[in-house]
Amino acid sequence: MKAIVYEEFGNPDVLELKEVEKPVPKDNEVLIKVHATSVNAIDMIFRSGATLLFGVTKLMAGFRKPKAKILGFDASGEVDSVGKKVTKFKKGDLVYGAAQFPGGNAEYFRIPEERVALKPTNMTYEEAAAVPDAACVAYSALIDKVSIQEGQKVLIYGASGGVGTYAIQVAKLFTTEVTAVCSTDKISNAKVLGAKEVIDYTKEDFRKNGQVYDFIFDAVGRKKIAYSDCKKSLTKKGIFVTVDLEAVLFKYMFKKRVIGIFAPVNTEILDFLREQIEAEKIKSIVEKTFPLSETADAHRYYEKGHLKGKIVIVVTNRE
Ligand SMILES: NC(=O)c1ccc[n+]([C@@H]2O[C@H](COP(=O)([O-])OP(=O)(O)OC[C@H]3O[C@@H](n4cnc5c(N)ncnc54)[C@H](OP(=O)(O)O)[C@@H]3O)[C@@H](O)[C@H]2O)c1
Repeated sequence: MKAIVYEEFGNPDVLELKEVEKPVPKDNEVLIKVHATSVNAIDMIFRSGATLLFGVTKLMAGFRKPKAKILGFDASGEVDSVGKKVTKFKKGDLVYGAAQFPGGNAEYFRIPEERVALKPTNMTYEEAAAVPDAACVAYSALIDKVSIQEGQKVLIYGASGGVGTYAIQVAKLFTTEVTAVCSTDKISNAKVLGAKEVIDYTKEDFRKNGQVYDFIFDAVGRKKIAYSDCKKSLTKKGIFVTVDLEAVLFKYMFKKRVIGIFAPVNTEILDFLREQIEAEKIKSIVEKTFPLSETADAHRYYEKGHLKGKIVIVVTNRE
């Protein structure tokens, strides 16, 4: 099969199109013929070999050489075959999902059954491949961890990126009081996705406007904001939820009002998301697509930052 392979850690130049062996699913795995896969921050971490989270990322990606060789954590496509213990899927099912270890930048990708679900019928493969990693983070932050309720005020910081665009829509399922924080050219997009208020962070600092929120979801990470400087913008029992796990581990380990999110994909969440997508309450914003052979360019594009939604890699063109 064709795959984008990397043998060394480094910049996007290390990614090369090669012919490799088709994977064989383990007993609990589904082998997917990949139509599309998306680009996530974790791909950059694995590709560059960055040491984060006390070295946990090196443990996963490899110390001297890449362990996985093929990147891409999420995918949409068609089931090609299943392991002998798989009960929920069969050959020909149209699915989407994400694995804990990468391999989606290829024609075939094996994912454990419990991290796969049927693909939303009203989405293209490109739109569906954008969902798993990013939307499951939004779900985990706003539903699993804080169980947001009608009337509660939530602020989504970084409302225009992969996680943020889904976070607005997930929050909107439960409350109308959604404030989005993004840069100037993403304001209209945040409003279309359902934000009641939008704050342009290039012009106004939400931490200084006197407003308070029940939840602040930091969907940017990378230490752009911290609980300590958001405290005044939270209600008495307000909670700060963040994608930045290092901050949670290092600084706020014992603070009950700070919650970190870690890679929460599973079939139950993907089924919930599919229902919302089919009810037209959640959609994917795909800023740009790249063919598999141009995966290195997709990484370069992603690394420029300031995305509107997701970057998707098309492996096999299909409607
Ligand atoms: N813990 C987990 O399990 C998990 C899983 C997935 C992702 N993540 C993390 O979640 C974060 C977001 O991922 P993503 O895929 O959504 O990234 P992304 O698509 O690159 O989005 C990040 C967004 O942040 C905004 N931004 C950049 N600088 C900003 C600033 N100074 N202030 C406010 N907003 C700023 C940008 O929007 P503007 O153009 O408006 O600036 C951009 O759209 C990453 O740090 C990633 O590592 C964690």
